[in-house]
Amino acid sequence: MLLSVKNLHVKYGNIEALHGISFDVEEGEIVTLIGANGAGKSTTLHTITRLPPPDGPRVTQGDILFKGQSILHTPPHKIVSDLHITLAPEGRRIFGNLTVLENLTLATYARKDRDRIHGDLQRVFELFPRLEERSKQRSESLSGGEQQMLAVGRALMSGSRFLLLDEPSMGLAPLLMFEKFRTLKRLNEEGLSILLIEQNARIALKFAHRGYVLDTGEIVAQGTSEQLANDPDVKKAYLGG
Ligand SMILES: Nc1ncnc2c1ncn2[C@@H]1O[C@H](COP(=O)(O)OP(=O)(O)OP(=O)(O)O)[C@@H](O)[C@H]1O
Ligand SMILES: [Mg+2]
Repeated sequence: MLLSVKNLHVKYGNIEALHGISFDVEEGEIVTLIGANGAGKSTTLHTITRLPPPDGPRVTQGDILFKGQSILHTPPHKIVSDLHITLAPEGRRIFGNLTVLENLTLATYARKDRDRIHGDLQRVFELFPRLEERSKQRSESLSGGEQQMLAVGRALMSGSRFLLLDEPSMGLAPLLMFEKFRTLKRLNEEGLSILLIEQNARIALKFAHRGYVLDTGEIVAQGTSEQLANDPDVKKAYLGG
């Protein structure tokens, strides 16, 4: 198993946000966690990557295993550099006053496989031609959708083999959103494993192999995307009937 979350309890201060959730992701899979506002989706991702650190979520019980080893005490930078797990978009990690190319290059700082960097940059430009066209442009002048592409591009440049996506559909016009999901699907077919967090259950269940439904800090349903999409309760609560 690539990722195994086991009976995870997480608190912010004294308030428990995750009440013992369990789920897993196999190598090569796309797994989605769907749920309404405040369900605990971002909390789950931030607990795995330990970002953002200062007053972030605190694990009080349970475990997170990556390839069978607990990563609860792995320093956040090692999660990126050694385990190749990346969270996107990480708005805070895009440097607005740097160019697109500078942002992509900066993402490679912790990589040990330096010889693969050039090929990965070609790959990012092939996947997102718009980033190549704008490579010399300051990142803050990109549109919201282009900034999201840059966030995924940065994740790939960091050498990530496991991508955690927080609401990649947010703020994107339908055309750009479908294009982005197609790109991500291609990356998955090439071996990238993906944990996708989405409020948009309809697109998440089209894209993912399997999913879990998170409701106020608890997993209330799970199954293949097809099973979930046909589940009457899921339909009613998340798919508009
Ligand atoms: N830094 C924080 N301090 C205290 N409580 C927090 C913090 N971040 C999140 N919470 C609370 O934890 C719960 C889960 O929030 P979380 O951001 O994980 O939800 P979400 O499922 O990602 O929602 P959304 O779809 O709106 O992004 C919410 O009740 C939220 O108010
Ligand atoms: Mg969120």
